[in-house]
Amino acid sequence: MSLALELGELAAEIAREAGALARQRRTEGVHLAATKSTLADIVTDADREVENLIRERLRTVRPDDGFLGEESDAEVGASGITWVVDPIDGTVNYAYGIPAYNVSIAAVRGTPLPDAWEALAGAVSAPVFDELFTAVQGEGAWLDGRRLQVTSETPAGALLATGFGYDPSTHDGDLALVRRVMPMARDLRRMGSAALDLAYVAAGRLDGYFERGLKPWDFAAGALLVTEAGGVVTRTDVESARPMLIAGGAEVHQRLTAIMENEQ
Ligand code: IPD
Repeated sequence: MSLALELGELAAEIAREAGALARQRRTEGVHLAATKSTLADIVTDADREVENLIRERLRTVRPDDGFLGEESDAEVGASGITWVVDPIDGTVNYAYGIPAYNVSIAAVRGTPLPDAWEALAGAVSAPVFDELFTAVQGEGAWLDGRRLQVTSETPAGALLATGFGYDPSTHDGDLALVRRVMPMARDLRRMGSAALDLAYVAAGRLDGYFERGLKPWDFAAGALLVTEAGGVVTRTDVESARPMLIAGGAEVHQRLTAIMENEQ
């Protein structure tokens, strides 16, 4: 079995277990552990517990790998593989009891800088929906074993999704972008969970997605899902504080890119 397939199996197994833990903790009640950059940027006890579980599982099986998680210090490994982990992506949804949250785990080769790595495997577990999205580089993307394919929708018929950063000073810019995109598309969603947005693009439930300022753990697994499902993912303005990620089928991706390039 290739390394990527092995990593994919491990990511899937751990994402499933971590998803079950997140869901279990949600039924027991949410404990807000802290707010981070702003009031909307929260972390719960469950975020930390789930990240610890993932970290411990990986440490046991692959002690030489690096780790980059949303809730703890990064660890550089000796193997050249780094695990990029969001223990609960969609934490605000989670805290409010909205089921659109997930556990996102990716194995990448290279430095944990998103533009210098290559993702080998990824898994996104959405436990409330009992869905597990997986992707392995060069092999494809699946939802519970069913192969995924992005849509070939035209921009005019596209259902899109986006997200907004936590910093209120960025909201005007994000909303201006929404105003430019809306006329081209069928409609737009803001689900509050970037990895799920990307998984849904891979699954053909959405035709495209864009968001500024995502962190590596928000998109590492989801971006691989989209490309392995035949879609296109790009990151631009990578030197800025808020790089733009665009994902979708070829035509929708191209149209979104053109709109962003003319951004004022
Ligand atoms: C957030 C969600 C949200 C997106 C934010 C992310 P978190 O991740 O994915 O949809 O708009 O940019 O930070 O904080 O819930 O892990």
